[in-house]
This record gives sequence, structure tokens and C-alpha cells, in this order.
Amino acid sequence: MTATTIQEQPLVRVDMMAAPLNPADVMCIHGRYPSPFGSSSREAFAASLRASPLFSSSSSGRTVAGSEGWGRIVEIVGGASASSDANYSLDLKEGDCVVPGVPGMGTMRSSLWLPANNVVPLSRGSELLDKGDPTAVAPLFQTAGTALRMLEDFVDLQRGDIVVQNAGNSAVGLMASQLVSSNGVKTVSLVRRGDRSTSQYDELVEYLTVTGKNVAVFAEEDLTNDSASFRSCLEHVREMGQAPPRLALNAVGGVSSSLLLNMLGDSGTMVTYGGMSQQPIQVKTTQFIFRDKRLVGYWHSRWMAQQSSIEERVAMMDRLVSLVLDASLQCPPVKSFHLSEFQAALEFEANQSNQAIRRKVVFDCREH
Ligand SMILES: NC(=O)c1ccc[n+]([C@@H]2O[C@H](COP(=O)([O-])OP(=O)(O)OC[C@H]3O[C@@H](n4cnc5c(N)ncnc54)[C@H](OP(=O)(O)O)[C@@H]3O)[C@@H](O)[C@H]2O)c1
Repeated sequence: MTATTIQEQPLVRVDMMAAPLNPADVMCIHGRYPSPFGSSSREAFAASLRASPLFSSSSSGRTVAGSEGWGRIVEIVGGASASSDANYSLDLKEGDCVVPGVPGMGTMRSSLWLPANNVVPLSRGSELLDKGDPTAVAPLFQTAGTALRMLEDFVDLQRGDIVVQNAGNSAVGLMASQLVSSNGVKTVSLVRRGDRSTSQYDELVEYLTVTGKNVAVFAEEDLTNDSASFRSCLEHVREMGQAPPRLALNAVGGVSSSLLLNMLGDSGTMVTYGGMSQQPIQVKTTQFIFRDKRLVGYWHSRWMAQQSSIEERVAMMDRLVSLVLDASLQCPPVKSFHLSEFQAALEFEANQSNQAIRRKVVFDCREH
């Protein structure tokens, strides 16, 4: 991505409708999150945008948080019809619903300019809008995209297979368990009991079973503190599928990832996509040598920025939107805040772990 490329492209102004607050955004604010382009090309990209005459009058020079969200094109400069890729014409037009396709461009604002090849148009966006509140579906684009890619790009899952995951109540986890269930694949989730009361925990399990379509949910604490419970969980899981789990999704690390690895069958793959515990993954040598287990990582920002074509991004977003429109996929419940309420939003987010069911914080970016 060079400065010349950006300057030569049409630019689109997107009025943002909604932008979720994800763990990565909080890490970005703390300066602990990398750029999918590498720091030098990201800097070059940002500098090139700032150099555009369009920005000199409107940019405050501040960095804006946010990677996920959706909005509508309100202006196109540099061509009535914006082709967003040399080989692929998207025919963008004003009024189109789009997803900013470049991670980290700052979605938590009312309006932003983007090069045309950095937006992903949603062909059924207006139908999604007709469903009502645009904040309700804002976690669909990156969050469900992450889940989908991890389920489809590492293991060829077959009907009857089992996927195990931790953070089963996270937004990504909730999307993952729903997405595989439609193909006859079963999900077993680990969650933290944490500070939840018994009734809150029961409510969570019910939610993850009914809405999340998990076949079983276990509290990590029960399995970690009692080896008999872990053995019985293992037996239970292995009886459920035609074979031991072939795929594990790890968002936590530490002890939680060891539980997942022990649940995974021989030659199974654990995809790590988050490190919520901030603890390293510990793997016994035997898991590699005698059990042939595979450890890989997944970063959706890299897939969006470098590893996918515009056609693949458009197809994936359209597929996710269709799943929501035909009610096969539910987004996690959201709690919306106006952009000016960022302090309250961060406080709400910091206190989610003692709630029965998490709600994704989403900024309503529309100017009211
Ligand atoms: N690699 C990628 O491309 C990619 C893309 C999207 C997300 N992610 C990562 O995926 C993870 C989940 O994201 P999300 O948006 O789905 O999350 P979310 O909806 O905000 O939920 C956070 C999850 O993390 C758990 N958690 C929080 N603090 C924890 C701790 N100290 N130890 C263990 N678990 C903890 C929460 O459990 P409680 O409810 O018990 O607090 C909850 O299950 C994050 O690490 C995020 O950075 C990665």
C-alpha cells in the first residue's frame, strides 16, 4: 500500500452508524497492539491519507480508536463510480452500506474518509438496516468473520465433529458455536464461573446452550481444581462425537489453553486468536511428539489487510449478513453508547465479568 496508490484512488466518505468496542481496541489504547501492515507501512498509509487535501481541513490530527463497524457512503470524490480494485469493480455509490475494510482506521467516529479499495460494500446492507437499530448487528463484521475463518481455514470439519473452545461466552465464541452447528458440528465451550452467582452461571449456561447452540458448557474452575471432574468431562466430550475434538479455539491462554489441549484429539489443531488471561500457553512436549497436536495462530486483521482479495472479503461479509437476515446467526446482545459517553462505555466494559451474560459495547456513531 503506497502513497501513490492511495492518492490515485477515489476516496469515499463514510458516515459511521455503529462501531463496537473490542478487546483489541482497549489494547490499542494501551499501546499493546500491533498493526497488520507493520509499523512502517501503516505510518506511510496514515501519512498519505493526511497528505490528501481532503484531510488538511477536516483532520484534527488525533488518532481515533476502532477497527470494526459499518456505515453508509455519503460522498465519493475522484469518480462517480468508484472501482475499489484494479481487477474488480465494485461500483460504489452514495447511500451504500459498507464496512471499513482496513483494520485500525478508527471506526469510533461519526465520519471518515477512506480510499475506495478499503471499504467492503454489503449487497444486502439496506435489508440489514431495515431490521432496525444498526448497533445491534455491528459485531457481525470482524467478530463473526474471525469465527468463520477459524472454523473453515484450518481443519476440514465434518458433520459429527466436535470443536472445543474457551471464552465460549465471548462474542467470537458465541458466533463460532452458532456458525458450526448449522453444519452438524458440535461445540463444547469452557467459560469462567468467576464472580458469577450460581443463578447467573446457570443463566449463562442456558443462554450458551439455547442461543449459542453449544452441546455442553463447562466451568473452567471445576475442571482445573478437580482432576476427576476433568476426566468425566473428557469422557462426556468423547462420547458426543464420532471422534475426539479435531479443532480447539483458544482466546485465553494459560491454564485454560492447557485444558483445551488436553481435550483435543491426537493430530488435532488448536488455533490461538486471543490471550485474555495474559498468560503464556504451556504445552507438554508429549503433546507434540506422541499426540501430534498442532498449534497455530489466527489474526483477522492480517486476513483482511493482506491475505484476502476484495472478492473474498465481499463474499464473506455478504454471507454473514445473509445468515443474520435469515435468522441463522444471532449477534451477541449489545449495550449502545453515544460517542460522547465513552467514559461510561469503558466503565461498563470493565465490569462485565460479573454479569450473567456479556453485552458487546457498541458506539452509536450517528449524529443525533
Ligand atoms: N485474532 C483475531 O483476529 C481476533 C479477532 C477478534 C477477537 N480476538 C480476540 O478474541 C478474544 C475475544 O474477543 P471478543 O470480542 O469475542 O471478547 P468479548 O466479547 O469482549 O469477551 C471477552 C471474553 O474474554 C473473557 N475474559 C476476560 N478477561 C479474562 C481473563 N483475565 N482471563 C480469562 N478470560 C477472560 C471473558 O470472560 P468473562 O465473561 O468471564 O469475563 C469473555 O469470555 C479477545 O482476546 C480478542 O482480542 C482476536
